[in-house]
Amino acid sequence: MDKIGVGLVGCGVMGTALAASCNKLEHAHILAVSDVRQDIADKAAAELNARAFTDYHDMLALSEIDAVLVAVPGFLHRAPAVSAAQAGKHVFCEKPMAVSLEDCDAIMGACDEAERKLMIGQVCRFHGVHGRVKQLVLDGHIGQPTCMVVRRLGGGWSGEWVQHWRMERAKSGGTLMEVNAHEIDFMRWVCGDVKSVSARGAQYIDSQTDFEDIMLLNLEFVNGAIGHHQSSNASAIGEYGGRLDGTEGSIHFPAIWGERAGIHYGRFGEKPQFIPAADIVVEEPVIAELRAFVDAIKHNTAPPVTGHDGRAVVEIALAAYRSAQTGESVALPMGKV
Ligand SMILES: NC(=O)c1ccc[n+]([C@@H]2O[C@H](COP(=O)([O-])OP(=O)(O)OC[C@H]3O[C@@H](n4cnc5c(N)ncnc54)[C@H](O)[C@@H]3O)[C@@H](O)[C@H]2O)c1
Repeated sequence: MDKIGVGLVGCGVMGTALAASCNKLEHAHILAVSDVRQDIADKAAAELNARAFTDYHDMLALSEIDAVLVAVPGFLHRAPAVSAAQAGKHVFCEKPMAVSLEDCDAIMGACDEAERKLMIGQVCRFHGVHGRVKQLVLDGHIGQPTCMVVRRLGGGWSGEWVQHWRMERAKSGGTLMEVNAHEIDFMRWVCGDVKSVSARGAQYIDSQTDFEDIMLLNLEFVNGAIGHHQSSNASAIGEYGGRLDGTEGSIHFPAIWGERAGIHYGRFGEKPQFIPAADIVVEEPVIAELRAFVDAIKHNTAPPVTGHDGRAVVEIALAAYRSAQTGESVALPMGKV
């Protein structure tokens, strides 16, 4: 396998970004795209010099396609991901992996059964600040994590993000899956598996959706650390940052991107050091995640973000919704949802 032949399902905002990034890799190229809308499939195909399909099953019949990128809305991930695996293709599935655990299990089951790679597009693992926070922990700068706080606050949905499906929790997974799949994954990546979730939230000002626009989550990790995530789509002044305390030191990332972006870190009794985000040079994250997927296929290794990781994010978000509804803390693993 010299160059991996790739097919795209869903030629929207993210699908076209993935496809353009895929074509920047030396060892992969987009050969075909599919979208239920002929005009959208044709436009993407013309831009990518690829074949266009309106039914992804026809695309999956092409023997030169080795791998498929699934970039349809979250509630639709299951069918193309399962069909792709059954057709012998490796699967890269956008976040959230799905909006139900049943769908996550079906995708993982199909990929396991067909012995195909499955990677979930939790792209923040490839961003500079997120990646350096994780590395500082791995390098022992703060000892064992004790408490992680991440805030991601924005002013609501606008522009190209206002699609019908995104406004319904049953289709997008609500803010916790459609946006905060990234922050939930980040916290779990750094602190490990979660054993209980307690959450509160409500729909305060955003009447475009049928879900909460502000939520506060408290997480208890298996290793004893605790975490707090503030999710908002109802904040006039946005913010994306947080901090991580450990047994020997702390990491403070006041902003993940923008002018103030960077990381302060230090041990007890020492003057903290500062790394400006601009000094953390990484490959463009979407290219980097696809490179990791292609490398896993070429070298027959495990992808860095597995189906298990994607499913864990969905489970934490579902637990938070249940907790906000019942007022009770939810222990993981969850029972049938
Ligand atoms: N990683 C990120 O930062 C990031 C950013 C944006 C979106 N996403 C994710 O990417 C996915 C898609 O989001 P988007 O913003 O690109 O959505 P979008 O609405 O822009 O595009 C979805 C496309 O899928 C097509 N489609 C629907 N059903 C189909 C089917 N059965 N077969 C083929 N095509 C079909 C639609 O016609 C549309 O063109 C979601 O899971 C979303 O959460 C990830």
